[in-house]
Amino acid sequence: MSNSHSSPEERHSVLHIWGRQPLSGHVTISGAKNSALVLMAGSILCSGTCRLRNVPSLLDITRIGEILSALGVKVSHSQGILDLDASEITQSKAPYDLVSQLRASFFVAGPLLARLGVAQVPLPGGCSIGDRPVDLHVKGLQALGAEVIIEHGVVHARLRGNRKRLTGARIYLDFPSVGATENIMMAATLAEGETIIENAAQEPEVVDLANFCRAMGAQIRGAGTNRIVINGVPQLHETEYSVVPDRIEAGTFLLAGAITRSEISLSPVVPDHLSATIAKLSEIGVKVAIDAPDRIRVLPTEQFRGTDIETLPFPGFPTDLQAPFMSLLTLAEGDSMVTEKLFENRLQHVAELNRMGADIRLKGNIAIVRGVPQLSGAPVQGTDLRASAALVIAGLAANGMTTVRGLNHLDRGYDNIEAKLRGLGAKIQRAQEAEIPAAPAESKRS
Ligand code: EPU
Repeated sequence: MSNSHSSPEERHSVLHIWGRQPLSGHVTISGAKNSALVLMAGSILCSGTCRLRNVPSLLDITRIGEILSALGVKVSHSQGILDLDASEITQSKAPYDLVSQLRASFFVAGPLLARLGVAQVPLPGGCSIGDRPVDLHVKGLQALGAEVIIEHGVVHARLRGNRKRLTGARIYLDFPSVGATENIMMAATLAEGETIIENAAQEPEVVDLANFCRAMGAQIRGAGTNRIVINGVPQLHETEYSVVPDRIEAGTFLLAGAITRSEISLSPVVPDHLSATIAKLSEIGVKVAIDAPDRIRVLPTEQFRGTDIETLPFPGFPTDLQAPFMSLLTLAEGDSMVTEKLFENRLQHVAELNRMGADIRLKGNIAIVRGVPQLSGAPVQGTDLRASAALVIAGLAANGMTTVRGLNHLDRGYDNIEAKLRGLGAKIQRAQEAEIPAAPAESKRS
């Protein structure tokens, strides 16, 4: 997404990474960004206060908090606990300047419509990874009985005719969109009658949202399968809920361990959420041990083999780990083929990895990665959240110093990444762009 609203510090700070340091130790994985964002929007469904625990400290969380505040929700966040008091929603219109910064803000459409019978949400627009339309969200809300007009860039939705509530419906999604499944599911919790979402997304964040809504009294079954059934109830009640661990952050740290040929352990995680990533790591020769139901460990591997990866909806290989995994494949023996199937422009890290000595050719949405023996540190630009993470991973393995720009992207989605990496022994330092610091002598563990 555009980041015109990031502060000058965010825009001009960089990460310096001195590569080839072995890592060791343990990382605590934060709550999932993509779950926390939608749960926060879901709090609008409850006319009381919901408490969310294990909320990551991220720019995107602050931004959706600002959108909720603009709608009248009282938001307070301290040390991973977020209280959301939606007893009075004073606005049905989400402000454009906030929505335009964060695509996830469209999540407020379904809950606002269900709660107030009216919602006005500016189209979030595309972002650097693709166009990202919301047609499936809109079709779903229409099927539930909303009249939707898109005018001057704003989606105006209201209950059709004299209806007091949305009405349950059978909805088939042309594509198992995560956001559309979530938006429709939230709206349907307060609809009259039964809603069935066919070809629903099965991502763990969808399941987390269903569990949160159920904790508020919603009647939902089938979340985590491709058919979700929601029986609407007149209202939802207050609850306390803990956000699921971030599988993408966990996957990113597995890759950091693998690329530095290190042993690191991670918790809390849900190993089943990482099945495709663990399977692909094992295919290239990297072992991941499951030490406990919520704890995994990546084991050091000297040489990796190339493999092919195709991104798919869950339980397929996640698009959000495509870029970080590609960094590892640049050092694998032989050729790999990486196909991005979900987003049309999510291979921008290729040019930056090539600047670090990788050998990657692009053909449309396919990257052919020919393994090289070594990467070399270079100044590189993160173009989106996961591309930035990929460059950090590559920097950890590269010879010399890598400087990653574009931290406004990284800070949207990784809670304290440099402190966590430093805690594992990485030599990594945030600085203002003009400063070129001397390499830290010995990494300080924090
Ligand atoms: N799509 C449509 N029409 C729609 C909705 C989606 O054509 O109405 C298309 C999109 O343009 C895209 C594909 O369907 O090409 C998949 O989109 P989906 O709706 O599944 O994704 P999303 O809900 O927009 C969430 C995550 C993304 C993650 C994707 C896929 C949040 C806030 N975002 O996006 O996370 O990549 O699911 O798993 O939940 C990230 O964290 O870096 C990130 C981009």
